[in-house]
Amino acid sequence: MTSLVVGAILLLLSLTGIVSAGRDVTGDILRLPSEANKFFHGGDDDEVEGTRWAVLIAGSNGYWNYRHQADVCHAYQLLRNGGLKEENIIVFMYDDIAYNEENPRPGIIINNPHGDDVYKGVPKDYTGENVTVNNFFAAILGNKSALTGGSGKVVNSGPNDHIFIYYSDHGGPGVLGMPTLPYLYADDLIDVLKKKHASGTYKSLVFYLEACESGSIFEGLLPEGLNIYATTAANAVESSWGTYCPGEYPSPPPEYETCLGDLYSVAWMEDSDIHNLRKETLHQQYEFVRLF
Ligand SMILES: *[C@@H]1O[C@H](CO)[C@@H](O)[C@H](O)[C@H]1NC(C)=O
Ligand SMILES: *[C@@H]1O[C@H](CO)[C@@H](O)[C@H](O)[C@H]1NC(C)=O
Repeated sequence: MTSLVVGAILLLLSLTGIVSAGRDVTGDILRLPSEANKFFHGGDDDEVEGTRWAVLIAGSNGYWNYRHQADVCHAYQLLRNGGLKEENIIVFMYDDIAYNEENPRPGIIINNPHGDDVYKGVPKDYTGENVTVNNFFAAILGNKSALTGGSGKVVNSGPNDHIFIYYSDHGGPGVLGMPTLPYLYADDLIDVLKKKHASGTYKSLVFYLEACESGSIFEGLLPEGLNIYATTAANAVESSWGTYCPGEYPSPPPEYETCLGDLYSVAWMEDSDIHNLRKETLHQQYEFVRLF
């Protein structure tokens, strides 16, 4: 498929907002990230050997895509509650939501109809035109000289460190959206992950991916033995779903004409909000997410 066609499909998906097809989160290819625990339990680095890093990225822009940046902001708050330091969390978001003229609560972003502001304190590492595939890869690889714009924050990790990467946006077969061109292609992402592994600069890496057909990013492409735990919202041919959308139940507050979150992301994040993951096994969390 040419990138033009892929682009057109992504544009179409982003315009329709939510894709309506039968939801069937079977989790066929979902690999349990037993390693994810250490990012969200309350506490500090003392209990975990090595430093915990996170890269959070919303691949969209525009008010109708409110939910992706809301997911990312929420993830940031959870990681901070889990004890990660701001200097170790790198945020990529276009940042056109909080002060968007359509936002009924200026300066505030929520990820749940009754939720608190999740925007406060989120660092503006890579915003606007600086949200690029190139910068995303440079940040993961810890290669400052490859950056073009942004805060300069990168995953400067060592062999005992743990990395959490979370992406939320629209996707298609083998491709993920970005607010700038080019899009993020599965092959390139896998290459970067292989490179990161080859550099010996992590002990474990957890990748949470929310996008339609997100299974296609890793399925059959991600080699074994990299200590990467990838979990995706959909398999290679499924849609992923917006949630807290106008006209649905539960719906956002009436003044919101946009979805507040994505179903899979909100499921694991609200689960992490509620439970103390120190006591809960990841298997239980997995079941919770599946039954949501
Ligand atoms: C970092 O990026 C620069 C510019 O793209 C590249 O020339 C260099 O080889 C990269 N360094 C490493 C260690 O990958
Ligand atoms: C992009 O990064 C550069 C360099 O840090 C900065 O001057 C610029 O304001 C950034 N652009 C946006 C839209 O954030």
